Amino acid sequence: VWTGSPGSRPGDGARARGAAVRPRRLRRTAALRSMVREVRLSPEQLIQPCFVHPAGIPPEPVESMPGVMRWPVDRVEQAASEALEAGVQAVLLFGIPASKDPRGSGADDPEGVVQQAVRRLKQRLPELVVITDVCLCEYTEHGHCGILRERRGQVEVDNDATLPRLAATALSHARAGADVVAPSAMMDGQVAAIREALDAEGYEDVAIMGYSAKFASAFYGPFREAAGSAPAFGDRRAYQMDPPNAREALREVDLDLAQGADIVMVKPALAYLDVLRQLRDRTTVPLAAYNVSGEYAMVEAAAARGWIDRRPIVLEMLTSMARAGADLIITYYASQAARWLREG
Ligand code: PBG
Repeated sequence: VWTGSPGSRPGDGARARGAAVRPRRLRRTAALRSMVREVRLSPEQLIQPCFVHPAGIPPEPVESMPGVMRWPVDRVEQAASEALEAGVQAVLLFGIPASKDPRGSGADDPEGVVQQAVRRLKQRLPELVVITDVCLCEYTEHGHCGILRERRGQVEVDNDATLPRLAATALSHARAGADVVAPSAMMDGQVAAIREALDAEGYEDVAIMGYSAKFASAFYGPFREAAGSAPAFGDRRAYQMDPPNAREALREVDLDLAQGADIVMVKPALAYLDVLRQLRDRTTVPLAAYNVSGEYAMVEAAAARGWIDRRPIVLEMLTSMARAGADLIITYYASQAARWLREG
């Protein structure tokens, strides 16, 4: 295709051909590139996940996620203030309780690890946005995200018996002072059950971030080590989404929005950028992407060997999520990436 100016003739040679349209003109200097940049990452859109274990236990590194720690409740503000100082405004809390049982009693315990951590953070760092993960898998001894029952000779997660447990958990987080609760159990109707429980107690101003399109992914492996939440038998494929399904993700988001979700999420992020893009084009609500534990571990493993350069790789990955349509990005790199962004 000839894209040159009318005065020039095709056949003028390589120099003339395509000479009128030269995208390289705007790539020439750093200033020009930054002027025409379509997407900008900023620290305010990043959310730092944070693992909290009981007070008195020393901070513990997570082996499969170098640089990530489990923090004791009585020191949780250390991780949170590091994030705040870097310009990150929000943390997402996960609890690792002292003990587990079949119904996940630790999840809605007013003296549970997350409830204590929320109260402490709200007291010491009032400007911090505190988001809590709402699920039972960290608190059940079987590691599944809900209450079990037997059906047709098989053990399965009982959807409707789990809903009141999730609602009670979210309510206990709201009572502790959480700004946003984030149900991740993938039970049908979980957003409605939580919205109803929050509103009934006057917490109509607590927001819900639904893990709406959460896929049954192999990328959660390191998280399950961090939280000790690997299922003791079977897997999560009967409640989390089947990876090939993008249309179904749109349906899950519609359902969560109809039930009152304020923010919806796609998880994992990197292998599901197409799903993010489709959701961006179809919804007006804030959209979050979760850059999960396995994505973090892959980068760390390769970076430790000197096979890739961590900083540009991380920023390029996070940028791809923003470009695909994410307003918010949950990433274990949040504090670090925010510092990089400020350094420029
Ligand atoms: C709880 C939950 C999980 C993650 C977030 N919330 C684990 C799972 O579903 O198995 C995974 C996060 C990550 O891998 O970084 N249900």
